[in-house]
Amino acid sequence: MEKVTGKGHRLLLMPSPFQGHITPLLHLGDILYSKGFSITIIHTSFNSPDPSTHPHFTFLPIHESLSESEASSMDSLHLVDLINVRIVQPLKECLDKLMRSKEETVSCFIADAVLHSTQSVCDGFKLRRLVLRTGGATSFVVFASIPLLRENGYFPVQESRLDEPVVELPPLKVKDLPWFETRDPELFYNLTSTIFYSLKASSGVIWNTFEELESSTISKFGQKFSIPIYPIGPFHKHHFPKPSSSFSLWTPDTSCISWLDTKEPKSVVYVSFGSIASITEAEFLELAWGLAHSNHPFLWVVRPGLVRGSEWLELLPDGFMESLGGRGCIVKWAPQEKVLGHEAIGAFWTHCGWNSTLESVCEGVPMICMPCFGDQKVNAKYVSDVWKVGVRLEGKVERVEIERVIKRIMSGDEGKEVRENVLNLKEKANLCLEEGGSSYNYLDALVNAM
Ligand code: UDX
Repeated sequence: MEKVTGKGHRLLLMPSPFQGHITPLLHLGDILYSKGFSITIIHTSFNSPDPSTHPHFTFLPIHESLSESEASSMDSLHLVDLINVRIVQPLKECLDKLMRSKEETVSCFIADAVLHSTQSVCDGFKLRRLVLRTGGATSFVVFASIPLLRENGYFPVQESRLDEPVVELPPLKVKDLPWFETRDPELFYNLTSTIFYSLKASSGVIWNTFEELESSTISKFGQKFSIPIYPIGPFHKHHFPKPSSSFSLWTPDTSCISWLDTKEPKSVVYVSFGSIASITEAEFLELAWGLAHSNHPFLWVVRPGLVRGSEWLELLPDGFMESLGGRGCIVKWAPQEKVLGHEAIGAFWTHCGWNSTLESVCEGVPMICMPCFGDQKVNAKYVSDVWKVGVRLEGKVERVEIERVIKRIMSGDEGKEVRENVLNLKEKANLCLEEGGSSYNYLDALVNAM
């Protein structure tokens, strides 16, 4: 019998307003709701979640006055910086009302790690703040080392040094460092260190990872910093009643599932680069021809906005898809968790966003890694060289290399070994959620602490 401990206590959760951050935060809400807590989601008006997916939660929008045109004209660093400034006043007003309510006790505030400005707001109300880190533990430790790495000359990352080892952080090479292409590197340094300091000032970190996956980082982090940590992932695999539809900024095209039903087991390459990454027009064409020449069926998510300077598929030569005779399927957005769980999927060509990485591990799907920016580079290194559950697309995106890497993973000894490794990790991911497993125990500790 599950213990239900949170009765009579309300938790306030606030996501960073991006797909890869809102989904895990809502999953965390579901996990804590299943423990008896009442859940309030405080969210920005920009990219607001749809309350109808979670009728058992209370949704409170704050009006941070961020317009679509402001958002679309900025890179993600400037956007995150502006959001942190704009949320302060409306969040204060929102908390002021909530904290006066006599009906329920607010136990604590759980904010996405990126929303560093919520720490001082919570301090003003003497409200305990826990941090949700939606990315991996290892990439966080790398972000936390940026001041040292900068002092030692690794930043800004230089093209000519990409293959040099980072001696302070083995097994990383310079190309694996979480660099963002930006015109304002000072903002990158400031933002990463402010996020780190506000995490250290919090009452604990909830992590969407599990001990068996990142054990050495988790234990080092625990030794170095004196704040409690709760690696209770993978969130989406916890045993809570799943909502009928999940949160998505785009509508998933479910027709790809019936297309997958027509394919042989483990024959399809699934290609998706998440919700933010973009590629050039030249890369798009190399990708298309590489997939066509691989001779494997492929399901490819081409999100509007994926190709810089293009609307959607207009760059594809006339008759390109028809010439493949049903071997290719392109959608704007896929029901990714379902796709990865489909028996027809043989490999996932991914940008190695943390959610995609975890989802692939949990379904036992080998990966082809093509990281674009930030934490994706660290994740890709671990996928290919540490956990050995994927292979990396090296160098420029070129059709010959794409064809070669797809063959490497879909057939041959290397592909077999990678598949065995990912199935082992999948089993560990399942076990850690069972009674007595690491994530199960950390969740108990978290619930008691709250
Ligand atoms: C961002 C960052 O880029 C990433 O590096 C960081 O770890 C989290 O925030 P994003 O790029 O969107 O996230 O990638 P990812 O973390 O993989 O999240 C994408 C989510 O969208 C996944 O949960 C995936 O299942 C979902 N998705 C993606 C779909 O549901 N359908 C799709 O077609 C593509």
